[in-house]
Amino acid sequence: MDMKFVAERHKGFKPSVLMQLAGLSKDMTDKIDLSIGDPDFTTPKEILEAGYKDALAGYTHYSQPKGYPDVIQAVVNMYKRDLGVDVPTENVIIVASGDYACFLSCFATINPGDELLIADPTFLAYKVQVGYAGGVPVFFPTSADNGWRIRADVAEKYITSKTKGIFLCNPNNPTGTCLHREDLEAIYELAEKYDLLIYADEIYTAFSYEVPFTTMLSIPGAAKRTIVMNSLSKNYVATGARLGWVIAPPQIIDAINLEGVNMVYTAPAISQRMAKFCLEQGAPYMEPIMAEFKERMFKTAERINKIPHLKVQSPPPGTFYLYVDVRETGMDDVEFTLKVLKEAHVVVVPGSDFGDCGKGFVRVCCTVGLPKLLEAFDRIEALGL
Ligand SMILES: Cc1ncc(COP(=O)(O)O)c(C=O)c1O
Repeated sequence: MDMKFVAERHKGFKPSVLMQLAGLSKDMTDKIDLSIGDPDFTTPKEILEAGYKDALAGYTHYSQPKGYPDVIQAVVNMYKRDLGVDVPTENVIIVASGDYACFLSCFATINPGDELLIADPTFLAYKVQVGYAGGVPVFFPTSADNGWRIRADVAEKYITSKTKGIFLCNPNNPTGTCLHREDLEAIYELAEKYDLLIYADEIYTAFSYEVPFTTMLSIPGAAKRTIVMNSLSKNYVATGARLGWVIAPPQIIDAINLEGVNMVYTAPAISQRMAKFCLEQGAPYMEPIMAEFKERMFKTAERINKIPHLKVQSPPPGTFYLYVDVRETGMDDVEFTLKVLKEAHVVVVPGSDFGDCGKGFVRVCCTVGLPKLLEAFDRIEALGL
């Protein structure tokens, strides 16, 4: 392809192994795909009907730039009711997805040359979006030895005079780790010491099994330097709604608003109405889905640990991802991924796709039913790795 019209920033782009896997497996009719971070459940019909009913009643226009006031209020009420934190309404903006929440947050705060600390392994969009905003991603290691929990003392070693902030993904994609309150307190202390912003991606709020989910906003003092990003995608199995929100100090929200009105203008009206319903009345409809995710995660982790040379934290800490240690097979994570793809027709993602610290691990998404998950690991066991 002639690249002459393509912007310089895209020219060094290398497709991830995940992107290549889709091509390699496209003709396998019996494949079990455990690479997709999109829940397999359809959004509960009560949530869809709430959006549809409001659309018929006229919610088919632009909303106020920061979102419908009653949707903003629903966010505020949910944080008080479920997470015990007071969020002023001027600290909230409704946006078109969690990804866009992150993009807008980066553009609202990052100056060219600013360094942003990101825990390795990581959800990949942070690195790209920090780069788009002119910032420099600086990776600091986390390790399976302490369940991939962020250590503030390790992050501190990577701080320079250019460091602007630190990214947290809690609960974490790809490792499933849930940070404990003391981890968040230590990160907050670090942020105070070096005057850093905290970018807290809390998109898997509902998927914390090991410890109760703790929002960064619940750490006293943290709200003044924290940007929380969240969305309907995972907590309400509504990735297609493309609906998220940001909670941040009002000056940052105003900057995000200015960017947002000049890009997408407002978040989709119908999805905003779904969000109001989700946040106010969605929990009972999610209970069976969350119970099923938990069962899949726990039983699949148990199954994996019965296979020689494979290891995974059991019971798993959170999310719908298992980060499986394959080092004892003697293969690296890319070799393992290609072997199970070609010989067992099972698609997983090499851990190194998420950063150097993920070498020797693979990510398994529990986004297919338990029988398929168990069959996938029967097939993998039969390879005798
Ligand atoms: C950690 C994390 N943040 C953000 C997103 C993007 O979510 P959304 O669908 O709301 O854009 C994802 C999606 O996989 C994710 O895993």
